[in-house]
Amino acid sequence: MRLDRYLSQVTELSRSESRQMIRAGRVSVDGLAITQPAHQVDSTTQIHLDDRLLDRPLPRYYMVHKPVGVVCATRDPSHRTILELLDLSRPETLHIAGRLDIDATGLVLVTDDGRWSHRITSPGRSCGKTYLVALKHPLKEAQAAAIRQGIPLRNESKPTRPAELQQLDETQLRLTITEGRYHQVKRMFAAVGNRVVGLHRQSIGPLSLDESLAAGDYRALTQSEIEIF
Ligand code: URA
Repeated sequence: MRLDRYLSQVTELSRSESRQMIRAGRVSVDGLAITQPAHQVDSTTQIHLDDRLLDRPLPRYYMVHKPVGVVCATRDPSHRTILELLDLSRPETLHIAGRLDIDATGLVLVTDDGRWSHRITSPGRSCGKTYLVALKHPLKEAQAAAIRQGIPLRNESKPTRPAELQQLDETQLRLTITEGRYHQVKRMFAAVGNRVVGLHRQSIGPLSLDESLAAGDYRALTQSEIEIF
């Protein structure tokens, strides 16, 4: 992250005031005065404004390729959790921005920035999530039409929002939904008389799972990926 952005996030200074402070030589990074507002800092950098240590840690953002068998919970008595996959300090400060079921795989976002994750998970934002879905039975045209249009789910008053469905072959499809109800994709296909036997999340909004990440791997998001949301 740029130094001026960091300064404006952890102090009361605006971005332009932060730049002025930096140009005036009042900011030091790891003991060295830095006068370039674009200087890059990360979560390991120590930053002083005059003599004051700015010790609010930088927010952290990661994408994880969730494997089967790992749970999207902060604790679990019998299964490995997503947070246990991450070799990071202070794991208790992190949370998951949109869960996947234990038997689902793919993109999971983990952060300690609650405002950021709210933009992803808040129903009002309609952030699209794209899944590769494998079905037990060949998809019938009427089932696809119902899913695209929106269908009632058991014990819920509102039907699902319209979804994008692209059939890949008889039993495989790509589905984009803009909600995150409990077991939503499985319940949608159950409601039309089919059954999900494989579920992989490819993307959340415009952010896709990095194909170089094997199942169980993770990486920090880049600044431009963070700013997508
Ligand atoms: N829908 C489901 O049924 N399960 C998931 O993990 C995600 C979406």
